[in-house]
Amino acid sequence: MTITYYGHSCFLLETSGKRLLFDPYIRANELAKHIDVAAIKPDYVLVSHGHFDHIEDAVSILQESGATAVCAWEIMVWLNKQGIEKVHPMNVGGKWVFDFGTVKCTAAQHSSGMPDGAYGGNPMGFIVQNSEGTFYYSGDTALTMDMKLIGEQYNLDVALLPLGDNFTMGIDDAVIAADFIKCNNILGVHYDTFGFIKIDHDAAKATFAKAGKKLTLLGIGDALKV
Ligand code: NI
Ligand code: MN
Repeated sequence: MTITYYGHSCFLLETSGKRLLFDPYIRANELAKHIDVAAIKPDYVLVSHGHFDHIEDAVSILQESGATAVCAWEIMVWLNKQGIEKVHPMNVGGKWVFDFGTVKCTAAQHSSGMPDGAYGGNPMGFIVQNSEGTFYYSGDTALTMDMKLIGEQYNLDVALLPLGDNFTMGIDDAVIAADFIKCNNILGVHYDTFGFIKIDHDAAKATFAKAGKKLTLLGIGDALKV
């Protein structure tokens, strides 16, 4: 599995020969101006919830790439209204076997309204599992006891957790989340993009290291092999 970071909570997971783009928010992100969006060419676009900082580029990328969207039922209805028809609807707790592996939708403690005010259903995270490994992206979420279920059911190789605080869990809660999900290889997302969520990178890494965990903060455009 290879993960390429595109800023905020947007990243590409390359696995089993497929390209999975998560929470596309690139063109409007000042920090990600150097990313060539047209070159990403995803096969799937997974959307965790309806907030603009997770869906802003979804319609244009889906139109340009012909990718299949994977998201909550209510987000499918909204995408349909924007002219996007290739959508696999899911909901929290459900799993499906795709041609790249199994996707399980996990609970996220957050909210989900669409940019135009439409209801976005429940926010969620995703576990992707195949012969190459097991990957977890929590989506925007608070620290929740439900994460213990993930630690009991899966042997994660890597987990992507929000760190920015204010809208989601912050660094201290993310360390506890890493304990709950039993994963010591954490990739940080949802930080630095806006004034509310700026973090001290060195302090964040030190906090994780003190707890015996590895925190990776990728530069925008950089990749991590898992
Ligand atoms: Ni959000
Ligand atoms: Mn967000």
